[in-house]
Amino acid sequence: MAIDLGTANTLVYVRGRGIVLNEPSVVAIETIAGVRKVRAVGDDAKLMMGKTPDSIEAIRPMRDGVIADIDVAEQMIKHFIQKVHGGKRRAWRFPEIVICVPSGSTKVERRAIRDAASNAGASQVWLIEEPMAAAIGAEMPVTEPIGSMVVDIGGGTTEVAVLSLRGLAYTTSVRVGGDKMDEAIASYVRRNHNLLIGESTAERIKKEVGIAKMPADGKGETIHIKGRDLVNGVPKEIAITQSQIAEALSEPVAAIVEGVRIALENTAPELAADIVDQGIVLTGGGALLKGIDEVLRDATGLPVSVADDPLSCVALGTGRALEDPMFRGVLQTA
Ligand SMILES: Nc1ncnc2c1ncn2[C@@H]1O[C@H](COP(=O)(O)OP(=O)(O)O)[C@@H](O)[C@H]1O
Ligand SMILES: [Mg+2]
Repeated sequence: MAIDLGTANTLVYVRGRGIVLNEPSVVAIETIAGVRKVRAVGDDAKLMMGKTPDSIEAIRPMRDGVIADIDVAEQMIKHFIQKVHGGKRRAWRFPEIVICVPSGSTKVERRAIRDAASNAGASQVWLIEEPMAAAIGAEMPVTEPIGSMVVDIGGGTTEVAVLSLRGLAYTTSVRVGGDKMDEAIASYVRRNHNLLIGESTAERIKKEVGIAKMPADGKGETIHIKGRDLVNGVPKEIAITQSQIAEALSEPVAAIVEGVRIALENTAPELAADIVDQGIVLTGGGALLKGIDEVLRDATGLPVSVADDPLSCVALGTGRALEDPMFRGVLQTA
């Protein structure tokens, strides 16, 4: 079994079956008389976000690319493993598990994740760095002496890495990803239209009409969004254009471009030369933002491509690292 423990989504891959679970990394916790209890996990918990009463809290334990709440993260891992095993309650032993952890996680957090997986029934737990898993999933030449660059734009962070010979030659993590884009849209709408919208609404707008650069006609599509009026407090609807969304997203997009630029500046010349030929591959859900590849192409002058199925790359790469002996060298013990 292989798990991509993402800041936004957790995916589980099972040997011979492929990806069998893909749910938001969200846990709803209910506190009754001071005792915290898991109310829902994954899809069910995400539906509750922004709509919970005071006694229930929807938590994203991996939110900013670090493990913000290790106890909740542990419960989430156990829940997903049990779900994949068909809800079998009795201790279910299985040989090996590979977990992809955010590269910002500390030794203590990694150990806690490993323990959570052991407690859930794994006899051997391996960890893998997220950019390595993304690159393997995107079928980049990570085992060869060829430099390549992967940019994984997740929910909480963007990981930029240069890889060669099963190792990370350079890696940097920017605390900007899909969440910051959602926040940027929400704050733009609040500032310019006096309209309050929630996280989920902002994310939906981003997925539907989000764009990283100005539309060619300077305006793009127009959409209607609903929220609460900041001035008189009543629900209302406004119209917004794609060019306005592009303006709202310019800051987080610029931060991602800057991360890539810094990585390129810190890449050894021989590897940099390879990247000129190989180009940059984008993975993670943020790679689906319209125009992000073009923006990076314009900024670097390098070929930039989006991986097939960017949301699954890390899970597929983690799974392949488990299955293919060629990749054994990239697995780490916690
Ligand atoms: N079509 C899309 N356009 C822009 N962003 C998207 C799109 N689809 C998904 N995303 C964003 O991608 C992020 C999740 O990507 P993912 O790679 O699963 O993150 P993580 O690995 O951190 O869990 C979320 O912020 C989500 O809103
Ligand atoms: Mg990810």
